[in-house]
Amino acid sequence: MAKRGTHTTGLSIGTSRVTCIIGEPGDAGALDIVGIGEAEARGLRKGVIVNPENAVEAIRHAVEAAERMSGLEAEEVTINLAGSHIMGFNGQAIVAVSGRDREITSDDVRRAIDSACAIQLPAGREIVDRLPQEFIVDDQDGINDPAGMIGARLAVKVHIVTSPVTARQNAINAVNRAGLVVSDMVLDQLASAESALTDEDKEFGSAVVDVGAETTGLVIYQRGAVQHTAVFALGGAHFTNDIAFGLRTPIPEAERIKRTVGYASSAGLNEGERGELVEVPSVGGRPARQLSRQILCDILQPRAEEVLMHVADEIRESGWERQLSSGVVLTGGGALLGGMVEVAEQVFDAPVRIGYPERDRFGGLVEDVQSPAWTAAAGLSLVAQRALASEARAAAGKRGASVGFGGLFNKFRDRFSGIF
Ligand SMILES: Nc1ncnc2c1ncn2[C@@H]1O[C@H](COP(=O)(O)OP(=O)(O)OP(=O)(O)O)[C@@H](O)[C@H]1O
Ligand SMILES: [Mg+2]
Repeated sequence: MAKRGTHTTGLSIGTSRVTCIIGEPGDAGALDIVGIGEAEARGLRKGVIVNPENAVEAIRHAVEAAERMSGLEAEEVTINLAGSHIMGFNGQAIVAVSGRDREITSDDVRRAIDSACAIQLPAGREIVDRLPQEFIVDDQDGINDPAGMIGARLAVKVHIVTSPVTARQNAINAVNRAGLVVSDMVLDQLASAESALTDEDKEFGSAVVDVGAETTGLVIYQRGAVQHTAVFALGGAHFTNDIAFGLRTPIPEAERIKRTVGYASSAGLNEGERGELVEVPSVGGRPARQLSRQILCDILQPRAEEVLMHVADEIRESGWERQLSSGVVLTGGGALLGGMVEVAEQVFDAPVRIGYPERDRFGGLVEDVQSPAWTAAAGLSLVAQRALASEARAAAGKRGASVGFGGLFNKFRDRFSGIF
């Protein structure tokens, strides 16, 4: 197998599934998907690894499947930052421009970002990502890249993401034990957004709601930047548990019923569909029963409303509620439940669509991952591709005022193209 090359690997370690996508550079900055792998995850709770042994196994399986399909070796992987304890908030700072000629340098930019992130964190937490939102030079706001501009005062607004130190370390350890190296970590829902949102969505305002198995992630974009993020300890597993409990059927049966005939919106079914009978196996050797789909709906709808209302409350409290002109995009396996769009449109009072790895950004085997359950892995691989391309450009010795940024900010700028 070829070892090092221009291919990149995105690895999304989820509570229920580990998904892996290997991609190669395609046309016009797109990523050609050449390898796909997935494995049932074990050893995670609410997005965090609690049993490394089992998690390592799942990671190996998913990566090996993608390697076999592509004939490439993964080695370096970009993974998701996940977990219900991840928190995001906004910080800002102002610094004086240091040079005598008042030309803003990359050092000034870095100093401003560092100073916005110089916050006291509770013990055991760390900053895992710093996402610049906007720069203000003297009184001029809305600046994406201030390097090379003239000014006396440089202000920056940054979205800061924090996580328990152990969550990140355990994820890296598990990946290392699977024989791989972590080259970068990207917030789960941000990776999904890179797959599913257009630049216009990010500019005019949109929210990605990634409904996983035990977590639901939120990211709000406006003016091309991340304005707000949050993670909730709710997801598709709660729907399954409700069915198992409500219909007294084993969890695997509840999961199967949910996926095959489950529907979250009663209004989305016609009379005939509501009356359709579903065979429900019982527990403890009792005979199976026949129940109508309406009863299933009566269980799923309140749960869907509850999960999405938590997200809607968060959006309202963040102050961006009225500024999501591009609406809400649902990603993650939980978005596959029938009727989720209808419920979400009611709850958010905004246009809602399901997000997929977009065909203008992905080529190769893109048709095989046309599902909201693949947005995170695809986004991670794409982000890695952009970072690799920018490293290659830097190594080729491009000169100019804005080159040579290095470090976190540069990585961010380049991997999230279209923002800066
Ligand atoms: N066809 C389907 N209909 C309804 N729900 C589905 C369907 N397919 C998958 N799901 C649900 O999607 C959830 C898994 O989604 P996903 O793979 O995005 O989660 P994950 O990344 O493993 O978990 P998390 O993000 O919480 O760590 C499960 O709860 C599963 O029941
Ligand atoms: Mg997930």
